[in-house]
Amino acid sequence: MNGKQRAAKEALKYIREGMVVGLGTGSTSECFIHLLAGEVKAGRFSNLRCVATSVQSENLARELGLTVISLHECGVVDLTIDGADEIDPRVHLIKGLGGALVREKIVEQNSRRFICIADSSKLVQRLGTKCPLPVEVLPFAHQVHENFFHSLGGTPRLRTREDGSPYVTDNGNYIYQLTFPRGIASPADLDRKLRSRAGIVGTGLFLSLADTALIGSDDEETVKVIRHRLSAS
Ligand code: A5P
Repeated sequence: MNGKQRAAKEALKYIREGMVVGLGTGSTSECFIHLLAGEVKAGRFSNLRCVATSVQSENLARELGLTVISLHECGVVDLTIDGADEIDPRVHLIKGLGGALVREKIVEQNSRRFICIADSSKLVQRLGTKCPLPVEVLPFAHQVHENFFHSLGGTPRLRTREDGSPYVTDNGNYIYQLTFPRGIASPADLDRKLRSRAGIVGTGLFLSLADTALIGSDDEETVKVIRHRLSAS
């Protein structure tokens, strides 16, 4: 078992019967979806319903026999389990390298609780030091955002498919990935500035959304639990 699988397995301890469970996107979330479906098949967690954060996760969950409903059907999700690309010591996150950031954020903002699962490679002291920040934009005149991104200290790169065409999200939008040479000094400030710009749909900064991170180790049979600390600056 590797760190992602260990974290996913640990997350099962937080699931109760009758819950509406939010399903994240990415390889760690896929481990969780497989484990959850296995438990449901074995007769545990009766009346469980799921809300997916991407078409990919929805398809996987349905294939494995889980009941998937839409977010508006339930209004509020009891608990969402999702991965992350970076996790800082206060459990502020960068998410979205899987391209599902906006749906993930909608589901997580409408969840009573969001627990992040990851292996220890995702831990950072400062966000933006290991991976770029994904930002979803409307396709309309998307190139005009590039100067704005530079003015905020980020170097933008439009995410593309293998054939060089722009990567398109489940929402029909594009994604810029912003690199910050020394990481992101003030994530809340950056998030506010990005979100104030017309045409920018959402950012991969998930600040004060997850209350707990379960960090699985690749080498040892341990899972570290990190609790959210207040202040998003
Ligand atoms: C999906 O859009 C992302 O937010 C994922 O949660 C994130 O990229 C983690 O993915 P892995 O679990 O594959 O590392």
